[in-house]
Amino acid sequence: MYFHPALLFALVATLAYISVRRFIVRRQFTLRHGCQPVARASNKEPLLGLDTIPGTIRALRQHKILERTSELFRVHGTTFTVKELQRRAIVTIEPENIKTILSIKFKDYGISHRLEAFRPLLGEGIFDTDGDHWAASRALIRPSFTREQVADLTCLEELIQDFFALLPRDGKTVVDLQELFFRYTIDSATDFLFGESIGTLKKTDSEPGFAEAFHYAQKAVIVRGMLGPLNYFYRDRKADECNRMCREFAQRFVDEAFNAAETKKEGHDSQEQQSESKRKRIFSHELAWRTSDRRRVLDEMMNVLLAGRDTTASLLSNLFFMLAKSPDIWAKLRREVTSLEGREPTYEQLRSLKYVQSCINESLRLHPVVPRNERQAVCDTVLPLGGGPDGLFPVFVPKGTLVSYSLYALHRRTDIYGADAHEFRPERWMDGTLRPKWGYLPFNGGPRICIGQQYALTEVGYVLVRMVQELKGVIGQNQGPWEESLALTVCVRGGVPVVLVPDEKGEIQ
Ligand code: HEM
Ligand SMILES: *[C@@H]1O[C@H](CO)[C@@H](O)[C@H](O)[C@H]1NC(C)=O
Repeated sequence: MYFHPALLFALVATLAYISVRRFIVRRQFTLRHGCQPVARASNKEPLLGLDTIPGTIRALRQHKILERTSELFRVHGTTFTVKELQRRAIVTIEPENIKTILSIKFKDYGISHRLEAFRPLLGEGIFDTDGDHWAASRALIRPSFTREQVADLTCLEELIQDFFALLPRDGKTVVDLQELFFRYTIDSATDFLFGESIGTLKKTDSEPGFAEAFHYAQKAVIVRGMLGPLNYFYRDRKADECNRMCREFAQRFVDEAFNAAETKKEGHDSQEQQSESKRKRIFSHELAWRTSDRRRVLDEMMNVLLAGRDTTASLLSNLFFMLAKSPDIWAKLRREVTSLEGREPTYEQLRSLKYVQSCINESLRLHPVVPRNERQAVCDTVLPLGGGPDGLFPVFVPKGTLVSYSLYALHRRTDIYGADAHEFRPERWMDGTLRPKWGYLPFNGGPRICIGQQYALTEVGYVLVRMVQELKGVIGQNQGPWEESLALTVCVRGGVPVVLVPDEKGEIQ
């Protein structure tokens, strides 16, 4: 190839001009905001940042990735930069910084780097888009999470009966609660979203179906996320097949929802409409009523299914893992629910059971089911803390930088929670003086705060209270400490094997 020298010169000069200009603009920006350099997790091998990889692999093998991150914060302070495989990221557990990313400077950050990994399963919806597309998703979905919707406990009770039917009550058979919780939440999520539960708790055969395909499809999301740009070369036929299966499965309900919406719009069957208002409301039907875009409804349903299912099951599992180690806490829960006199709790009663709520808060603190998260800067911006030798100055964040935050490490800060921050102690929530604000973010904060928070807390509270009413004791069979099973959410490695001690009246089935 031949370049005229003048052309070459012009090219080099332009590139030089662009980078010098950018340097000057950024330098001015840095000065204007009083930014100072941020601590670095040392890279002895600065070119690719490979020196941290052995430690990561060791932590992976020991199932201590979350602990390793906490350790790094103890060594390098509460905000520092890391570089792994040429990707530079700022990591932080400063509440002020997290508040800045999620709320104050919400518009400076995005999540569209997630889209490539999620799209084959989710399409484009609330969980993997930014800007106007995201805002439209949120507006579409939000009205389906009204209080009356969330307070409908009928389905939760029906499913708890299926769940109870699977519990051994001989006081010696070991059962894995985690496995059952994942079945409970997929049954309730499909009922809420599709209007019809897929009934995995009722099934006796283990024929692979939607739940298994959905599980595999999620694993593939993580692989694609880790590969980043290399994704282009990655093919997984089984994942393609699972994505197709899940989406086709949901498509049936979308079609049905649009048929229902059309009949309703044409004003047919007014009789059915009347009984409709008394019957439960179905997510897919509501979306079909609000938009005519079938693809959009399918995508949003997949998004909400992903956001809502494993999260709730993981919370139940992490919570019960700790409860099964703490007979005192179980006894205290038993005393609290006696106020219900054996009746099923209402929505209001659930809210008023303080110790129940404290146990849930404490599980989400010690084992936040979304244990880490990140945002990517979409423009040059600034974080209030982390710069300078003691981290008290602002930090410059160039466009494209990933800013990650660890809820796992944040929730264990002793300056927020006290010297016993590493212990499971629900009592810390009881007197109402613990107000951690941006130091406690199990459901995230700001405009993208979890839409399903009340729904999830209701479901988890309901299952917990019904279990406490039903069982005198839950005896954990795993003697070791809690270990992470880390995917998009974190649950318990090895599951939650327990032996159940039935209440006198409930024994021998
Ligand atoms: C214990 C249970 C749950 C936890 C800990 C949890 C946590 C979270 C977190 C941390 C986010 C923020 C993700 C991000 O922006 O990066 C989120 C978003 C979301 N959650 Fe939940 N979630 C739970 C249950 C649910 C349930 C049951 C539903 C629905 C039925 C749900 C629906 C959503 C949706 C739609 C979003 C996206 C909101 C947006 O980006 O505007 N979540 N959740
Ligand atoms: C649980 O945590 C939330 C969020 O910080 C708080 O609003 C609520 O009062 C807490 N519940 C209890 C029982 O302390």
